[in-house]
Amino acid sequence: MLGTFSSSLRSTNFLTKFGGNNFSQLYRKMCDKPKVFVTRSDIPNDAIELLKTSCDVTVWNKLETVPINSLVENIKDKDALFCVLNDQISSQVLDKAPKLKVIGTMSVGYDHLDVDAIKKRNIRIGYTPNILSDATAELTVALLLTTSRRIIEANNAAKTGEWKSWAPVWMCGPGLKNKTVGLVGFGRIAQQVGRIIKSFNISKLIYFNRSERKSEACEIGAVRVDFDTLLKESDFVIVTCALAPETKGLFSTEAFKKMKPTAILINTSRGQVIDQDALVEALENKQIYGAGLDVMYPEPLPLSNPLLKLNNCVILPHIGSAAIETRQEMALITAQNILAVLNDKEMPAELKL
Ligand code: GLV
Repeated sequence: MLGTFSSSLRSTNFLTKFGGNNFSQLYRKMCDKPKVFVTRSDIPNDAIELLKTSCDVTVWNKLETVPINSLVENIKDKDALFCVLNDQISSQVLDKAPKLKVIGTMSVGYDHLDVDAIKKRNIRIGYTPNILSDATAELTVALLLTTSRRIIEANNAAKTGEWKSWAPVWMCGPGLKNKTVGLVGFGRIAQQVGRIIKSFNISKLIYFNRSERKSEACEIGAVRVDFDTLLKESDFVIVTCALAPETKGLFSTEAFKKMKPTAILINTSRGQVIDQDALVEALENKQIYGAGLDVMYPEPLPLSNPLLKLNNCVILPHIGSAAIETRQEMALITAQNILAVLNDKEMPAELKL
């Protein structure tokens, strides 16, 4: 019945009779749903279903990062892009997407987006701040304890028979009690890490951040210091800052030289904040005690990378926000961000350019 009605709606006679070209345009507008390209096939379903309520949704059908030529081919007629943090959205990609109005990235980080090129084209960006802070802070602390208390090594020892008996100093690592913890970056994730880590009876919480965050620092009991002081004083250094020109390669050979030989470095921000060659050297030469990395470059790290061979380095596959509920919420907010722009509404989380 509906089919018959819509085919008669489409017929020229009907359209001419009841309003002619204007009506035909209106009808086409109603039928032409905005087109969205989603760069992964494993996005939580609620988000895809939400998009489908008012959009034509094309989902990349492989469980791997969409190659650039397929990305370009797929977004050339799209109004919106739903992407993740390993999709590099460059000006070359944007040049091929003249209709693009909005990019929704399912991440808090946006260093994979050429923000200047996007701004120039008046394309809006939605992202997912706030909602992943708790999950990422939780993982950061888990990674710290895994590294300091040698949990991976200990687990392997139990599984391989290396564990012969309880031993007084075997598998020992530094504890947190009475230690100084330094936070590099003092955004939402760092602040939550600070709150959790205080419960381990540490002696001092310090942070290095471009701007002073007086009220948050006061609430958590953290003291702002310069970068050198943080390196010299910290027993645990936790990196959660964004990747930006001023933070790229912040942990250089010089920085490692300033750290304590007993220090542990944890990174859950972006790999490029650390000069990885300098880190390998620092770990091999015992310039620092250990490192726990949830992020690195490239991702995934090639199996031949020396970091994977070091006992004093724990590597995780970028799972900071990977709590089930968090990832579902991130996908939904990304879809809502996209729909908001397509419907001329305010985005739940817009990256202000
Ligand atoms: C994770 O790294 C994110 O940016 O969401």
